[in-house]
Amino acid sequence: MHKGLAIYPGSFDPTTNGHLDLIERGAKIFEELVVAILRNSEKSPMFSVAERLEMLRELTAHLKNVRIDTFDGLMVEYAKSLEATCILRGIRAISDYEYELQMALMNRKLEPTLETVFMMPADKYSYVSSRLVREVARAGGPVKGLVPEVVEEKLREKLDPAYKLRGIRRLDFAEPIGGSELDRRERKRKKKA
Ligand code: PNS
Repeated sequence: MHKGLAIYPGSFDPTTNGHLDLIERGAKIFEELVVAILRNSEKSPMFSVAERLEMLRELTAHLKNVRIDTFDGLMVEYAKSLEATCILRGIRAISDYEYELQMALMNRKLEPTLETVFMMPADKYSYVSSRLVREVARAGGPVKGLVPEVVEEKLREKLDPAYKLRGIRRLDFAEPIGGSELDRRERKRKKKA
């Protein structure tokens, strides 16, 4: 086990099974791991920082050397404030490499003592990203197996606010939320008939 503290920074909007897989791997090799959610992202997030924090805390409660935190501004400054020695990032495919390399080298330029460590999540998650999960869920597609159940539930609540009130389960997002124009016309026709 590597002595010292590592930071796993990211947006986690929302946490996927790939993120969780990486956190569990990281927790095995670092003495202490801080999962750090970026607060001032330019992107307009689906989940608030408080929601992401709560979900991650629940998902990592079983990992005693993992803490969840949020940060603002430069990641290396935040890392220095915690006296971290490593930054952990996941690489799923070659396509991630270019961006991650650029970021790692920029971070090294900003703070040469901080090392970036790359780890690979399980190959079954190699195509899973928060962006695609959001896209699939928004269009009413199934996200089972791609995100933890807690996140699946939160996505349902977020995208179908009446779900919590009704207390019934949508069919694993099997039915498109909006439906197509043809579906709508068909429903209207049946109603009239
Ligand atoms: O999950 P993401 O969106 O890929 O995470 C990107 C993140 C948060 C790690 C990166 O954008 C970041 O560290 N931002 C903080 C600002 C910063 O330090 N920028 C310089 C990075 S080279």
